[in-house]
Amino acid sequence: MTKHFTALADLPVATILSLLNRSLFFSQSPLPSLCETLKHKVIANVFFEPSTRTRTSFEMAAKRLGAEVINFDVSNSSVKKGETLYDTLRTLESIGADALVLRHSDDRIFETLMPKLNTPLVNAGAGKHEHPSQCLLDLFTLQQEFKTLAGKHILIIGDIRHSRVAGSMMLTGPRLGMKVSLAGPEELMPKPIPPHCERGNLEELLPQVDAVMCLRNQFERHIGLDLGPESFNREWGLTVERQKLMKKNAIIMHPAPINRGVEIADELVEHPNSRIFAQMKNGVFARMAILEWSLKGETL
Ligand code: CP
Repeated sequence: MTKHFTALADLPVATILSLLNRSLFFSQSPLPSLCETLKHKVIANVFFEPSTRTRTSFEMAAKRLGAEVINFDVSNSSVKKGETLYDTLRTLESIGADALVLRHSDDRIFETLMPKLNTPLVNAGAGKHEHPSQCLLDLFTLQQEFKTLAGKHILIIGDIRHSRVAGSMMLTGPRLGMKVSLAGPEELMPKPIPPHCERGNLEELLPQVDAVMCLRNQFERHIGLDLGPESFNREWGLTVERQKLMKKNAIIMHPAPINRGVEIADELVEHPNSRIFAQMKNGVFARMAILEWSLKGETL
């Protein structure tokens, strides 16, 4: 059976834990020992939306495992002549791609494609729904910090309604025994609030949590909302003063790209408690685990 990696919500908890174990294994393995893992495999990156981290770290992950990579350039492809997404992916499948790493603006694109393709599909971000490889790297970063996920409390702040990163964490964190709290303006809250997540007061939550996840403000989607960068920072940003309310060992996370001085103070991006660049580093290990699972059907 084709092993599509499209939503953490669809994976058993045991598989998610196994992928985290495998991410740990890759983070501790000397590189030359891994280069036979996906030798002769070809991974196609197909990004219909811009990306820096996800695309390059999938490419790095593939190369670390010995695979070759096609970075499909949508803007210079026959998509511009009207070729459909399905025909584009079938073409890449026909020429021999072994996995298709896809980013797309449609929340439900994978549900449509999965029954039609025999090549593993890997979700590199789908609309406002799920960003499962980001969530895996976020979970790995939390586990690296705290050794265990069960009982840990994460606070997600800001533009949660438009965030696929928050979408995946809200669905997955509680399944792993985490407490997930949300803070932000009413207009940027998900509707409804997902089960086992709760909205609370920002200043009251900050001293209680183990991790704060800031999110990029998607101002382009804030139709009719009178909340510019300065007022967002004043009311909901992780400012230097607010960070001082956090526990001494609580960490700061952000999936990036970052609007410095908006959702997070410039000074906090590389604060000793920030794990933002560690998240990016861990993204390679998490994506190695995902590619191995999709292509070889095994985790340890
Ligand atoms: N976090 C994330 O998805 O970043 P990119 O959009 O740069 O891939």
